[in-house]
Amino acid sequence: MKSPIIAPSILSADFARLGEEVANVLEAGADWVHFDVMDNHYVPNLTIGPMVCQALRDYGITAPIDVHLMVKPVDRIIPDFAKAGASIITFHPEASEHVDRSLQLIRDSGCQAGLVLNPATPIHCLEHVMDKLDVILLMSVNPGFGGQSFIPQTLTKLQQVRQLIDQSGYDIRLEVDGGVKKDNIGEIAAAGADAFVAGSAIFNQADYAEVIKTMRNNIIA
Ligand code: DX5
Ligand code: ZN
Repeated sequence: MKSPIIAPSILSADFARLGEEVANVLEAGADWVHFDVMDNHYVPNLTIGPMVCQALRDYGITAPIDVHLMVKPVDRIIPDFAKAGASIITFHPEASEHVDRSLQLIRDSGCQAGLVLNPATPIHCLEHVMDKLDVILLMSVNPGFGGQSFIPQTLTKLQQVRQLIDQSGYDIRLEVDGGVKKDNIGEIAAAGADAFVAGSAIFNQADYAEVIKTMRNNIIA
């Protein structure tokens, strides 16, 4: 297993103090900043865009920013996020007319690229684009909101995608997003994930370092 990545989702952070929250969670041991972009069209919620990503860079955040696009269409916003300091950009295949083109656009913009699969999205959509993926993100909740419960069927899907990645020989991260907690991260890791998004499990606790440390211990255990 690659060294595990903990990526706190800032959706559950205090937006009135976002820079400070992100700095604190990184100081507490987080690896990436998971940045949820929602458009009230592809998903029924509205969040933040490139300006906020740029603001975090201007504030001095240097950690990788993992931009999870839940917007439709995706192509127009990709170069804007690249310019605003995104490191990784992932999108849902249902939100792009030309998935291969969007993936290339992300890499051509200088970012790492990934696809996000909703709970009901079959894994065969990965088949012809494995060479263009740096990350595969499996949703373990339906996208749109933090604080939902982990859908257990994701464990089987993780095992299947893990096998696909290993057989492909490509260097691809397997990330999971939704309902990840201290007490289920062990089995999620055992199913093959090596990057873990957690929003409410981290930001709803007072001691971010304690949660992140326990998560890491439970991954290895
Ligand atoms: C949901 C978002 C997630 C969300 C996770 O659409 O993509 O990143 O913030 O939140 P928790 O960890 O609370 O399920
Ligand atoms: Zn997300």
